[in-house]
Amino acid sequence: MDRDSNLVATFWEGDEYVVLDQLELPAHKRYLRLKSPSEVREAIVMMRLRGAPLIGAAASAGAALAFRGAEEPVEPAVFASVCASLGSARPTAVNLMAVLDEMRSFYDEEVAGCATAAEQFALMQRRSLEIHWRDHDRNRRMAQHGVDWLRRLLPDKRLRVLTHCNTGALATCGHGTALGVIRSLHAAGLLEQVWVDETRPYLQGARLTAFECAEEGIPHTVITDSTAAYLMARGQVDVVLTGVDRMAANGDYANKIGTYGLAVAAGYHGIPFAPVLPLESFDLTIADGTHIVIEERADDELLVFNGRRIAPAASSGLHLGFDVVPHRLVTAVVTEHGVIEGSIDEENIRTFTRRHAVADRA
Ligand code: MRU
Repeated sequence: MDRDSNLVATFWEGDEYVVLDQLELPAHKRYLRLKSPSEVREAIVMMRLRGAPLIGAAASAGAALAFRGAEEPVEPAVFASVCASLGSARPTAVNLMAVLDEMRSFYDEEVAGCATAAEQFALMQRRSLEIHWRDHDRNRRMAQHGVDWLRRLLPDKRLRVLTHCNTGALATCGHGTALGVIRSLHAAGLLEQVWVDETRPYLQGARLTAFECAEEGIPHTVITDSTAAYLMARGQVDVVLTGVDRMAANGDYANKIGTYGLAVAAGYHGIPFAPVLPLESFDLTIADGTHIVIEERADDELLVFNGRRIAPAASSGLHLGFDVVPHRLVTAVVTEHGVIEGSIDEENIRTFTRRHAVADRA
């Protein structure tokens, strides 16, 4: 098995949750020691940690920290308000809500009745740790399925993979989703090169994906987002792999702004286009992508670059954090339970998730 990245985005140390501050990367590796739910919330809102699976895992830590140092057992109403506050940190990635639902059920069933807050904290922290390891394990399985699928789809060649945003160890609890597949392709000698979209305006590609690739000697080249379609036209892209923030029941999915444009360009050029996600990122309560809440962030993040305003003071900006890819542009969906191929539609997705959700709970 190929080795994991040495990068760890977050971890528990004693009773503190340690977070690598991604706003400082790649220049500095600065770690923050978080001790309360509100500090975790701030880190998510400010994007000191980000990426759908990592936001979910961090929310489990934030929920556990509600019990740290409490003198009395934490009452249901107090815990409910902590979860509501964490759940409102960012709107698009469904993992945040999924993990908080899980922590709430765990609290109701096993924690609420504990005699002391210390016992409660120990149980909640252990559950948070399990959630972190579980994500790591899912990523390894996704990567293996992704590599096997690509070996079948595009045999006998080293691949030139284009990716968007950051979906690696810094967006998850290790290895990554789309970047996890890329990491494993590299380890198997099947990767020619990664095209890394810089991912305006937060530059998760140029700052974070390139950082992960550079740390591990993965051959990569950073491009402006607007270069991607032209590289496809020139025959320099074999496959596009992306992460997912929320996938609806019909396969429409939200991901970092710019993903939709990539899907259109890949479709036009006949290039395979695949999202890579854990089942946790499906939201089967919504029929299609029109129901996904798209985060809108401050326009300063777009109009100010390196501390300097780049547009006239009178200009406003529109900073949508995500867009939605329609399912008909998706070639296949890579998950920890295998690859959904053929028609990407509601029937196929419901059958697949029903079969494997049972396995997941076992
Ligand atoms: O705004 P971000 O950086 O949290 O957005 C991240 C993405 O869009 C990722 O592609 C997605 O969360 C999947 S991460 C495995």
